[in-house]
Amino acid sequence: MADDRLMPSAETPVDPTLDLFAEIERLKQERKAMILAHYYQDPDIQDIADHLGDSLELAKRARDADQAEVILFCGVHFMAETAKILNPSKTVIIPDLDAGCSLAEQCPADQLRAWKARHPDHYVVMYINCSAATKAESDMICTSSNAEQIIAAVPKDRPILFGPDKNLGAFLAKKTGREMDLWPGACMVHETFSSQKITRLKAEHPDAKFIAHPECEDHVLALADYVGSTSRLLTFVQQDSGSKFIVGTETGILHTMHKAAPDKELIPVPYEDRTAACQGCNQCPHMKLNTLEKIYLALRDLEPRIEMDEQLRERARLPLDRMLALS
Ligand code: 13P
Ligand code: SF4
Repeated sequence: MADDRLMPSAETPVDPTLDLFAEIERLKQERKAMILAHYYQDPDIQDIADHLGDSLELAKRARDADQAEVILFCGVHFMAETAKILNPSKTVIIPDLDAGCSLAEQCPADQLRAWKARHPDHYVVMYINCSAATKAESDMICTSSNAEQIIAAVPKDRPILFGPDKNLGAFLAKKTGREMDLWPGACMVHETFSSQKITRLKAEHPDAKFIAHPECEDHVLALADYVGSTSRLLTFVQQDSGSKFIVGTETGILHTMHKAAPDKELIPVPYEDRTAACQGCNQCPHMKLNTLEKIYLALRDLEPRIEMDEQLRERARLPLDRMLALS
């Protein structure tokens, strides 16, 4: 007889006595699913993933997922959308469709089109943190781990429109010396990091190195000993001779950093409580929408799914392919 606990109606909450880890594993095999997870996911989710990574690594994993029939993307919507763009024959599911991204929200495709129309000579490089429709309007996509390489590949005689992240853009303009117009977007998490508090923390821990994600504001990056994507920050902690690090990105990554470098001391970045209601501004509220319960339900129901118009997908794929050819 079928086990009733495994078939609650859509409205019924998941039975709290269910062994979610076992059920997810069972459904994963049954569905021939591959679980991809970003470092900002809760520790339990990172631990059940087949592959963990930064945006670029996860995009490549999705593109190369030949054996799996289903890709369950534990990250945010633009990441799952990228998986669908790169591997359209797979069923791509996400635990919570509302897991968005403040950067992606800030640069809708119609606004990018209008910006392009005002700058017809410019080459458009968009950070991967944007929608498929915005990608479709771009010449090239970049991530935080390949951005310098991508900017170097833009024809030297073309000025650049860069979006949606003005902080990553300003960091790149400084590094590469290229002329860049920046879209005024920012990550709601990284922009709360407080340089005053980081300076104080550095004084309290003079032996600690401060490492930061390039989505941080200029005044925060100015304090950093190392700047890089989530994967690069992880590798830095593993390989650097230092033993103490103030980690300037979303705190989810501390879980895997602790596992990868158990002897190193990790200090989460201090943030400015700008809203007074802020419970933990160094956590991404979108990433944290994903839970084991929602993962179980997504694998059980193969919903919510990422679906996309084929013409849009093909247009969005072009600038992604140009990026992947260089990465
Ligand atoms: P990474 O590609 O460095 O993992 O960054 C993704 C992201 O959304 C950071 O906020
Ligand atoms: Fe978007 Fe910022 Fe969350 Fe990354 S941390 S997904 S950039 S809102």
